Amino acid sequence: MKFETPATTNPIDRLKVIGQPIHRIDGELKTTGRAMYAYEWHDPNTPYAYGYPVGAAIAKGRINAMDVTAAKSAPGVLAVVTTLDVGKRKKGKFNTANLFGGDEVQHYHQAIAVVVAETFEEARAAAALVKADYAEERGTFDLSAERRAAKKPDESQEPDTAVGDFEAAFRSASVTLDQSYTTPDQSHAMMEPHASIAAWNGDEVTVWTSSQMIDWWRSDLATTLGVDKGKIHLMSPFIGGGFGGKLFLRADAVLAAFGAKAANRPVKVALPRPFVINNTTHRPATIQRIRIGAERNGKITAIAHESWSGDLPGGGLETAVNQTRLLYAGANRMTAMRLVTLDLPEGNAMRAPGEAPGLMALEIAIDEMAERVGMDPIEFRIVNDTQVDPEKPERPFSHRDLIGCLKLGADRFGWSNRPKVGSRREGDWLIGMGVAAAFRNNLVLPSGARVKLDRQGVVTVETDMTDIGTGSYTIIAQTAAEMMGVGIDKVAVQLGDSRFPVSAGSGGQFGANSSTSGVYAACIKLRDAIAQKLGFNSGDAVFENGIVRSGNRSVPLAEAAGPGGLVGEDTMEWGDLAKTHQQSTFGAHFVEVGVDVATGETRIRRMLTVCAAGRILNPITARSQVIGAMTMGAGGALSEELAVDTRRGFFVNHDLAGYEVPVHADIPHQEVVFMAETDPMSSPMKAKGVGELGLCGVAAAITNAIYNATGVRVRHYPITLDKLIGGLPDVA
Ligand code: MOS
Repeated sequence: MKFETPATTNPIDRLKVIGQPIHRIDGELKTTGRAMYAYEWHDPNTPYAYGYPVGAAIAKGRINAMDVTAAKSAPGVLAVVTTLDVGKRKKGKFNTANLFGGDEVQHYHQAIAVVVAETFEEARAAAALVKADYAEERGTFDLSAERRAAKKPDESQEPDTAVGDFEAAFRSASVTLDQSYTTPDQSHAMMEPHASIAAWNGDEVTVWTSSQMIDWWRSDLATTLGVDKGKIHLMSPFIGGGFGGKLFLRADAVLAAFGAKAANRPVKVALPRPFVINNTTHRPATIQRIRIGAERNGKITAIAHESWSGDLPGGGLETAVNQTRLLYAGANRMTAMRLVTLDLPEGNAMRAPGEAPGLMALEIAIDEMAERVGMDPIEFRIVNDTQVDPEKPERPFSHRDLIGCLKLGADRFGWSNRPKVGSRREGDWLIGMGVAAAFRNNLVLPSGARVKLDRQGVVTVETDMTDIGTGSYTIIAQTAAEMMGVGIDKVAVQLGDSRFPVSAGSGGQFGANSSTSGVYAACIKLRDAIAQKLGFNSGDAVFENGIVRSGNRSVPLAEAAGPGGLVGEDTMEWGDLAKTHQQSTFGAHFVEVGVDVATGETRIRRMLTVCAAGRILNPITARSQVIGAMTMGAGGALSEELAVDTRRGFFVNHDLAGYEVPVHADIPHQEVVFMAETDPMSSPMKAKGVGELGLCGVAAAITNAIYNATGVRVRHYPITLDKLIGGLPDVA
């Protein structure tokens, strides 16, 4: 099915199951420990062996030789496979850094060997005995030091945009701002590390892994191993978080496959936590310069956003100016992104790549500008709202209710009680409130599914879609139940298996809308098959309460299925609606903080996020996404930073003790409100993404609240105590 014209009324609009607060159908499996994560697949009759990775101890250079004699003769060792043994490999389409193979070292902790042993402990002990002789080369690791060497990337990355005459408009503006902001390298820090089990059967390999994108991994694993894609069976039904870190094939799957081949045994490989930090990908640091010019009435006349980020040779931008191209009006505008070559581990997508770090800067700048023009920051945003793409005014937004989010949030949060800067104190605490807009584009990808109806009237959905903790199982079951007119208890969902139709996968907050649309398309096929079998006109057939009706005939679905059952399969594809209309999601974040007047310690007191993201398919799972995102934003504001050793070229704080994510005590009170809306331009589901939106802008709202509390304006994340303490009032 191709979605080419705006959705009209369809069976989803019945909202008997869709839109209902249904608890996740995989919840019991997870809370009872029966959901099998990648490393946990265990067949008692299979003699699993354990692989432990060895990482490069240099950031850049070549390996002259490796000595594995001691490792090979260590207790329990079955095989040692080195990067020199397997030779240079072709790189997967989605990989920038080489995962394994050849003598070139591109970054610290690049995998250079895997040691396979009878037990995990034996593998780990032997891995410490692997020796490498390196020819180390000088690398570049410091974004700010290398900024002058930044280059404009090729046009496919859309580095520049310009409308009108920014420079002239900025010069003549009544009120101006010109500030720089920085965001650090960040780690996905998902709970479950990257892990894979590989088992060969002749020239075919089955890999249980932890992947957001089954088909991308399958293709890239085939390329990297040099085997036919058809010989690879990938399974990833349960995933302990990804946040973008599992979008692309990683070394664990490659090492497990090579290790299993060499040991002639199924092999399990989990990346130790330090490898998650330095062996995989991270969100790249940015330096951002924002200039805004406005009239005295608050209307923006000029806006410019420039961003610098780094990556390995051949890598891509952190697209931090994305939202500035779309969020606020202004006749004269420019954006530019420049790329620095760094020899740090690969930079790549992390939850809301582009908008997340971009809004960390832009929404502080907007707060600063509102103060300069003497307006409330909500009013300033409302005055500069736009209903069309400000760079291409002929393109309207499909649906945009940023103003509604700001107003509703202000009301719910008690914004009218916001103190004057630095004026509210409770004991040792300076109290302040902050606001920021949330914005994230709504993407769609083709998504396929197969839906089966059996003689018991049970509907089974099969798709290679993944559930990274987001609730895919549940919303897919809801979609099939709604479409087929059955209760959710009559639906079974099978995900994350490469034998199933290729789906959108989980990324870019496109998963929920895209994958349920694929299920919608497959259900239409199944409804047609049922109607045709019964001799019904499929246009008249009504599917309701486990029965299909047409005119005065009605047949239970179980009976319609017959002994052989019926199947519908289709892929949702997308026409031009995303080109003719700008599809985005919107929101508003409100935060109240207390800052200790003596120590500069910031405590978040309460948070509210209002989201306008089309139809909410399930308010429980959607809320769960947003509160997780708000929590991630709190980490981004206050604690998360990969510390770069600019001499040796690696991230020093490579564990969850040194890379500090928020804990329960950091997040006292969160509220999430969804605007009641649908977007018929987005899909037959009329839904959009919400999982990344919830992160976009949170950190700036916290920063703005800290400013309101203290009068200290911080522009460099994270906001640690040292950045506040010098500006706090004297404590007598
Ligand atoms: Mo997302 S960073 O595309 O998983």
